[in-house]
Amino acid sequence: MELKITDGELGVRPPVTKPHPGFFAQVGEERFRKLVDDHYEMIRNSDIAFLFPIFDEEEFEQAKKNACDFFIQICGGHPYFAENRGEPRMVGRHAPFRIDEKARRRWLEFYAELLPPLEGEGVSPEYIQSFWDYIDIFSTWMINTK
Ligand code: HEM
Repeated sequence: MELKITDGELGVRPPVTKPHPGFFAQVGEERFRKLVDDHYEMIRNSDIAFLFPIFDEEEFEQAKKNACDFFIQICGGHPYFAENRGEPRMVGRHAPFRIDEKARRRWLEFYAELLPPLEGEGVSPEYIQSFWDYIDIFSTWMINTK
């Protein structure tokens, strides 16, 4: 398992491969929601918190839920995001927030801390790798600020 961060660049959108369905199958929905929950809690206490709705608890919880619904769907789980929010339109949905390469790296670094412990919980390293490879590349698409 090598959770390395690819250099991202504004306007460059490399092709993405969805995570292997084995990842969500092994992690399970409950643990998956905890993963995204932990990620948002790390964000809340970080230097990229200002990008997120940290001053409104309800909005923050909703943002967390929407992000989690999307990841579950993209990982081959139930299409919660399609049901609740419609089309993915990830680039457009991120347009209101000034996301630069530095913020994207911080966002990824938190996942780089949260993913390895899953191996000790019985998730195959190659499945963890496939989730990482997906967020590593797809997150570059969200860069919209120099
Ligand atoms: C693989 C990459 C990413 C995915 C799939 C993703 C997914 C999502 C989803 C599904 C939402 C909720 C959108 C909605 O329901 O309208 C969201 C919101 C958001 N994301 Fe991301 N995101 C990614 C990367 C990032 C990065 C790198 C940043 C910045 C560091 C970021 C910042 C935000 C912010 C600020 C919100 C808005 C929270 C709110 O007010 O609702 N995202 N993201």
